Amino acid sequence: MGGQFLGASDLLLHFDPTSDLPIYLQLYEQLRSSIVTQCRLGPGAKLPSTRAFADSLGVSRNTVLAAFEQLLAEGYLEGRAGSGTYVARTLPEAFLGARHQTASKAMARPPARVSERGRIVRALSPSTSLSRVVPQPTVPKPFRMHTPAFDNFPYETWRRLTQRAWDRVRPEMLGYGSPAGWRPLREAIAQYVRASRAVRCEAGQVIITAGAKQAMHFAAQMLTDPGESVFIENPSYSGVRVAFQLAGARLTPLPVDGEGMVIAAGAGVDARLAYVTPSHQYPVGVTMSLRRRLELLDWARRASAWVIEDDYDSEFRYRGRPVASLQGLDDQQRVIYIGTFSKVLMPSMRLAYMIVPPDLVDTFIAARAHHDWQSPIIEQVALTDFINEGHFGRHIRRMRAIYADRQRILVQYARQKLRGLLEVPAKDAGMHLLGWLPQGVDDLAISRDLMDAGVETLPLSQFAAPAGDRGGLLLGYAPFDERDTIAGIDKMALVLERQLALS
Ligand SMILES: Cc1ncc(COP(=O)(O)O)c(C=O)c1O
Repeated sequence: MGGQFLGASDLLLHFDPTSDLPIYLQLYEQLRSSIVTQCRLGPGAKLPSTRAFADSLGVSRNTVLAAFEQLLAEGYLEGRAGSGTYVARTLPEAFLGARHQTASKAMARPPARVSERGRIVRALSPSTSLSRVVPQPTVPKPFRMHTPAFDNFPYETWRRLTQRAWDRVRPEMLGYGSPAGWRPLREAIAQYVRASRAVRCEAGQVIITAGAKQAMHFAAQMLTDPGESVFIENPSYSGVRVAFQLAGARLTPLPVDGEGMVIAAGAGVDARLAYVTPSHQYPVGVTMSLRRRLELLDWARRASAWVIEDDYDSEFRYRGRPVASLQGLDDQQRVIYIGTFSKVLMPSMRLAYMIVPPDLVDTFIAARAHHDWQSPIIEQVALTDFINEGHFGRHIRRMRAIYADRQRILVQYARQKLRGLLEVPAKDAGMHLLGWLPQGVDDLAISRDLMDAGVETLPLSQFAAPAGDRGGLLLGYAPFDERDTIAGIDKMALVLERQLALS
């Protein structure tokens, strides 16, 4: 079968419209099963183009792309530049040491059955469909997202503070502690957000979590019931979509314009909660206007709904006045504020915090207790000292200057080298920029080609539902000095020139 072209009709695919499983997952599972059993899809077989395949199956091209993406990521398919998609000559089972299975034996063992939640997680997991474009544990290549500048991390100070935390540790600190977190850390955070983000809170409202994502999962589970509607921004952070989908909530994406999420677009929907990134919309980068903030709080009051404010990278604002938090404007105790140390310090620390209205404190402490109890004590103690002794403030000020400079270099060089290929407007804040591709260019395909050329980007379409009409690429700039940025843009220019000439 090697190399031969297969039409969609040869594959005997059929979809069950009544199934809870999305069509792309049905397609993925049937293709995977045909590949594993070598039934109609042998090693090296060529698949139809996604466009032709989608037309012949009567599904959208995005459906086929999503199924192919997952199979590519798992190693069942291989893409060859310019010549299409093929069944891998060596299947992942071989790498895993599985004995060669005959078709009949393989058919006797269908794919492992997992729950609906398992399917959602598997379909959306960074280790499957997005594995080619999300951070990997390797040295970051331009323009990897979500990565601070570790070349400027205060290693020596951090080492000293963790050592000191061990020197001072008392035996009772090593048992189960408070699920809300180390009290001195909660106090330091409360003081920090009051001063720098105008958040109104007491230390007792601060709950330490293992990352902002954990806080989102708690909020999704504690504040919504299955089937209830939740407003999210479109495009939006994928982590929050997963959190609410797993909780069984119904997602209602509302458009984002130059003033932030358009809350009026949700008129008529009885939503219980809204998730927003008002300081720096993720991933587009706009700041929510005061008018919209007031509109959102007014909606929350009238609907008796909750608002989640994800303030993930507000420390890095380069121009204009710092933007105060939405939580600080809320006099109805409807906002749950989430902050993280992943951007300011390091994602692997897994320390973040949620600041919740007083009447939700017990619920969220119980959620943490029942989930994983608490965060590691030594890191909490070291972080408390890092904040209280002024290292945190100094580190933020230093990084702000470095990131502003790195953004300037990226914008300047992109303007020179990527004219007509990618428009990269400057932004006042953050650690990434959104570059716009020419109308009609498939950002997922471009992102994949760039990855093959050693340039890491995230396609905007993966954050939107359904994908908008103009594709874009997210470019992290924080960890890259001038030399890295120039090298990355030069590679991008080559790939984009080639691909855009072909399309
Ligand atoms: C918008 C947004 N919110 C929250 C997070 C999660 O951060 P954490 O590492 O604290 O889970 C991220 C991480 O990339 C993010 O992009």
